Amino acid sequence: MTIKKDRILVTGGTGYIGSHTVVELQQAGYPVVIIDNLSNSSADVVDGIERITGVRPDFVKGDCTDINTVKALFADYPDIKGIINFAASKAVGESVQKPILYYRNNLNTLLNLLDLMGPNGVKGIVFSSSCTVYGEPDENPVTEAAPIKKATSPYGNTKQISEEIITDVINAGAPFKSVILRYFNPVGAHPSAEIGELPNGVPQNLIPYLTQTAIGIRSELSVFGDDYNTPDGSCIRDYINVVDLAKAHVIAVERMLTDKSDAKIETFNLGTGNGVSVLELINTFEEATGVKVPHRIVGRRAGDIEKVWANPAYANDVLGWKASSSLADTMRSAWAWQLKLRERGIM
Ligand code: WQD
Repeated sequence: MTIKKDRILVTGGTGYIGSHTVVELQQAGYPVVIIDNLSNSSADVVDGIERITGVRPDFVKGDCTDINTVKALFADYPDIKGIINFAASKAVGESVQKPILYYRNNLNTLLNLLDLMGPNGVKGIVFSSSCTVYGEPDENPVTEAAPIKKATSPYGNTKQISEEIITDVINAGAPFKSVILRYFNPVGAHPSAEIGELPNGVPQNLIPYLTQTAIGIRSELSVFGDDYNTPDGSCIRDYINVVDLAKAHVIAVERMLTDKSDAKIETFNLGTGNGVSVLELINTFEEATGVKVPHRIVGRRAGDIEKVWANPAYANDVLGWKASSSLADTMRSAWAWQLKLRERGIM
């Protein structure tokens, strides 16, 4: 493994997607420093990363909404050349209840990073965005040219505003680049089962709730509606393996730092291109693991999109990246992670 000289700052790097991305960055030879305020993750994740890669990433506990924290970070790590910004609050429902927390956390974090990148010689920032910017798309699969719809939650709005902030800052002549990655639905866990999704409290997202039901922590999975205009009536999403997603971030960083493109900003949809319904996903999990998931159809969840899945052709062609994991393998990785959490007495 050739050690690359450019250090990468990963904000929110002890979180679900951040931690999997740190693993892939290290295995690609990048030195990494993580900053995370641990508001929705644990410092134990750093141990998990080290168990996988054999290299302990530098870790700074801190809140990037405080500009002095970010200034100190760049002073301590003058070799940071790239940033991947995951640090954000991300629960759709919570954002409706606590809009100020979401706008302050998600936007101030980004503004502080953008403000200090130029003076510290940082060459680029990869921004963690979401398919939520498309709202209910007019057609599926969704390309990057699809219209941005008015956000249906403050969380989704912070992603839209963040993309606009990045665009305005770079169009004003900032001396760095950006790659915006719009994720569809990240799921699964690292095949080592050393890291995975570990939501605080009652999971809002489907897969952690499903695996907690399968292992008996939850008594039953509620399927939010089967009266949608889809083949089996349940909502359709593009479930992308978190390791496949993480690999795309390494490619994006490499692209920025080696000036593979003249473009100052590039945007990519990261999905599999396959739309899968909730009921199909439950069936895939049960077939892949042999474990039943008690579930019941209940009413729709407010704000849910009926169907959204990616056209990943642009990322496939331009980044040379393609999601390769099967949904069955991904479900098995999620289940192995849930079993590991029980083995460790964590859940
Ligand atoms: C998926 C499907 C639910 C839970 C959100 C954000 C997105 C990203 C991922 C952060 C939907 C159904 C869910 C349950 C269910 N956020 N469901 N029972 O809403 O597509 O996306 O999370 O990165 O930006 O918008 O993900 O996993 O909550 O829901 O039936 O207990 O599963 O109705 O159809 P979603 P989700």
